Amino acid sequence: MRESTLWFWHIIAGAVVLVLLALHMGIMHLNDMLAAIGLGQHDPVDVASVFARSQHAFFMITYILLLGAALFHGFYGLRNILFELTLSRGMEKVVNIASVLVGGVLFIYGTYVAIAIFLMEVQI
Ligand code: HEM
Ligand code: HEM
Repeated sequence: MRESTLWFWHIIAGAVVLVLLALHMGIMHLNDMLAAIGLGQHDPVDVASVFARSQHAFFMITYILLLGAALFHGFYGLRNILFELTLSRGMEKVVNIASVLVGGVLFIYGTYVAIAIFLMEVQI
């Protein structure tokens, strides 16, 4: 893929991370906000709250979006930093392959978890 296209997606992913991470941090740290939208008044990271969120399609979809955007943004950014060290062609190839492999495996695993928990019948 062309470098300018990857850079474009890096900026778009940064914008997605900005919005979704603000929501994620809001939910994780503002207990009252969570209660106001009817998702329970428990500690946001206790098991009942985590499962209550994970059963909503909205959260399942935004987890996957945040996961994909943060992985792409982070790995592409790291790759750029490494490329600035003027690596050999061979090393650049290794960095490219490692980023795609590690990022891809993490994305598949995280997506699997979000979907599996969404489909699970949880009784607490
Ligand atoms: C509020 C959320 C974020 C926004 C708005 C954002 C935005 C940006 C922007 C605009 C750039 C390009 C900077 C430049 O080189 O001109 C950048 C670079 C980068 N970002 Fe983010 N980012 C965010 C979160 C993150 C997170 C959570 C990570 C780690 C997973 C991350 C990792 C990086 C890396 C490694 C670079 C490359 C730095 C470089 O090229 O020198 N960012 N980010
Ligand atoms: C103190 C900070 C944080 C806390 C307490 C926290 C807590 C959690 C919890 C409890 C979940 C499970 C889902 C849920 O309960 O809603 C989750 C999921 C997730 N978090 Fe965070 N988080 C934090 C920071 C971050 C940051 C900085 C990022 C990304 C840059 C992030 C990205 C994600 C993603 C992508 C998921 C979904 C993973 C998946 O389902 O595969 N979190 N987080």
